Amino acid sequence: EKSSEAIFSKSFDRNPYPIFKRLRQEDPIRKTMLPSGHYTWIVTTYKDAETILKDKRFIKDYTNLMEFEKEEDRYAHTSIFARNMLFADLPDHRRLRGLVQQAFTPKVIEELRPRIQEITDDLLDQVEQNGKMNLIDDFAFPLPIIVICEMLGVPSEDRDQFRMWSNTLIESTGDPEDTEKVMLHMQQFTQYLTDWVATRRHEPKEDLVSKLIHAEEEGDRLSEQELYGVIALLIMAGHETTVNLISNGVLALLNHPDQLEALRKDPSLIKPAIEEFLRFDGPVEFSTDRWAIETIEIGGQMIQKGDHVLVALNSANRDESVFNDPDLFDITRDSSKHLAFGKGIHFCLGAPLARLEAEIAVGTLLNRLTNLKLNVEEHKLIWRPSLIIRGLEELPITFEKVN
Ligand code: HEM
Repeated sequence: EKSSEAIFSKSFDRNPYPIFKRLRQEDPIRKTMLPSGHYTWIVTTYKDAETILKDKRFIKDYTNLMEFEKEEDRYAHTSIFARNMLFADLPDHRRLRGLVQQAFTPKVIEELRPRIQEITDDLLDQVEQNGKMNLIDDFAFPLPIIVICEMLGVPSEDRDQFRMWSNTLIESTGDPEDTEKVMLHMQQFTQYLTDWVATRRHEPKEDLVSKLIHAEEEGDRLSEQELYGVIALLIMAGHETTVNLISNGVLALLNHPDQLEALRKDPSLIKPAIEEFLRFDGPVEFSTDRWAIETIEIGGQMIQKGDHVLVALNSANRDESVFNDPDLFDITRDSSKHLAFGKGIHFCLGAPLARLEAEIAVGTLLNRLTNLKLNVEEHKLIWRPSLIIRGLEELPITFEKVN
């Protein structure tokens, strides 16, 4: 058995780390076939991962590899979910990211602290008496989606629909069986955004959607398609990831009671603990799609012009040449070099928000609840089948209230 084929197995979903380790040792840049039938290069060492993420010859917008008779044809067949900064190259990337950048600086995000604390406390109020919860549905999912909906100014009551639509996109494997559902859900999501933008156009407020509509109406800064694209990206990126930072982190603490105790005893460890959550079992298993715009030699392999590349972030974060004893979960170590938020121009825009949400969520959980335990046998936990996201379907726990 070749190790990279194991990437698409059930045992990989459960525990990818032994497979990543083998790849780093035996085949650090390996060409393999995706379930969709397309070929990709899987990159597993820290050094190669960092090099590729920083190298602008690995592009995000594959239309830059193509020739068009008329410029208008360029995006004729791409969906609005591809019309955003994450799938753009320079100079479009700078323009698109620049429109929302100010809303996500650490300083601006810090001002959200009281509101994030309030949402966190409300969620715990609702389950505290029960002695048990599904940490994902009851806590780790609602928190970030409510926060990003409030920032954008879209109704957070519609969050279950956002969750359904974005799960469909993220879990799609590209095989034909999936395609019909993906198309339908993308269509519904697009319709929702179109209607919502029309509402806000009519009656602007002090929120991000209104600001973006303003930029679009000013003329050449943002097209209508890009307007929908950035809203969809922020809704999806704003919750598909942070939910897993909180839940993968809590799971790691439950599996390492000494670390849980250390954090309870010394709450000032919360910041390094969050960085260790990100390093040890990060929410984003693989970076998003990249293509080589020219033939590039890396790690002794020739990546041809037009080849597709996936960077295994969670493998880079377990690379023994960068992190001592990488499979050890240690909230006191210096994890700051991790690549969980990516690197280079596409470095996660939402990193300050994700960090603050996780800090408040996990800090408050430990303040208010004690005797936390998994309410299911560990081997029965189900990991989501997504290639990109590393996260659990459910995380049932029991606890007692701190008096
Ligand atoms: C980009 C991870 C939370 C918004 C990225 C990338 C990673 C990442 C790895 C780069 C992908 C690539 O280069 O292929 C994470 C993790 C999160 C998180 C681990 C939580 C723990 C958030 C949140 C938001 C957000 C809360 C927004 C509210 C974005 C955006 C980009 C991005 C807009 C694209 C940036 C660009 O292309 O310039 N994120 N993210 N993320 N993230 Fe996050």
